[in-house]
Amino acid sequence: MNKEKRSTAKAVTIEPNIVLAVHDLIKTYTIGSSTITALNKVNLTITKGEFVAIVGPSGSGKTTLINCLGALDFPDSGKIMYNVNAKGMALDLTHMTNKQHKKMRLRKIGLIFQFYNLFPILTAYENVELPMILDKKDSKLRKEKVENLLKRIGLEERMMHLPAQMSGGEQQRVTIARALVNDPLIILADEPTGELDTETTITIMKIFLDLKNAGESILMVTHNRRIADVADRIITLTDGEFTDEKIGGKPINEIYNF
Ligand SMILES: Nc1ncnc2c1ncn2[C@@H]1O[C@H](COP(=O)(O)OP(=O)(O)O)[C@@H](O)[C@H]1O
Ligand SMILES: [Mg+2]
Repeated sequence: MNKEKRSTAKAVTIEPNIVLAVHDLIKTYTIGSSTITALNKVNLTITKGEFVAIVGPSGSGKTTLINCLGALDFPDSGKIMYNVNAKGMALDLTHMTNKQHKKMRLRKIGLIFQFYNLFPILTAYENVELPMILDKKDSKLRKEKVENLLKRIGLEERMMHLPAQMSGGEQQRVTIARALVNDPLIILADEPTGELDTETTITIMKIFLDLKNAGESILMVTHNRRIADVADRIITLTDGEFTDEKIGGKPINEIYNF
């Protein structure tokens, strides 16, 4: 999609309880003479406070979907409508400039990755604070927010630790706090427990469930079918297409027998 086509994000109305509406999303990659269709007409609606999991094997298009919805890449065609003022005024990511994308990532979309992507020279506190500094929030508000979030995810004892001084689970908790710090519309998580053992996976999923119960909207992609059952809805992605959908909400202790 060229830049001219993208530079006219017009507001359209959407149902106020819808956070994200995706229409006929297509994304292809071309290498030499071969073209791979990574996403083939994906349609998805997420309502406020919903926890949706998308499951699929490696190569099914999960990361491509998160990158398109997370304003990190552009689809070939389709619409990605975010309810930006939460009152029913939606903007289409596919019609935005790079600058507008940056703003969306800073203020509206909380991204969580498999490999944490924390700055190694910044402490837990500083990593969480950074998006607020970039958004020019004042220092008093920053302190209050960062400390509250780190407490909320049980890391008050680790605030001054560097990423290398923390376990994988602790680092992932820092990224959850970082994702939440500017009060995004939605959390997008790409294999958030991909690097973690079962016990730590349970800890992270409990945090996601707490966030959902507090009203956050979450979209998680994973190849872990078992853990996905805690979400409200589980959608199966097969070769870039949604092929199945089921209701979840299974208690985590039933999944892991504890
Ligand atoms: N940058 C890229 N260039 C070319 N092909 C890619 C690129 N990224 C992903 N793909 C291909 O797109 C398909 C979907 O990949 P991906 O979204 O990473 O899947 P998943 O996250 O489910 O493992 C795969 O066939 C993959 O090889
Ligand atoms: Mg992936």
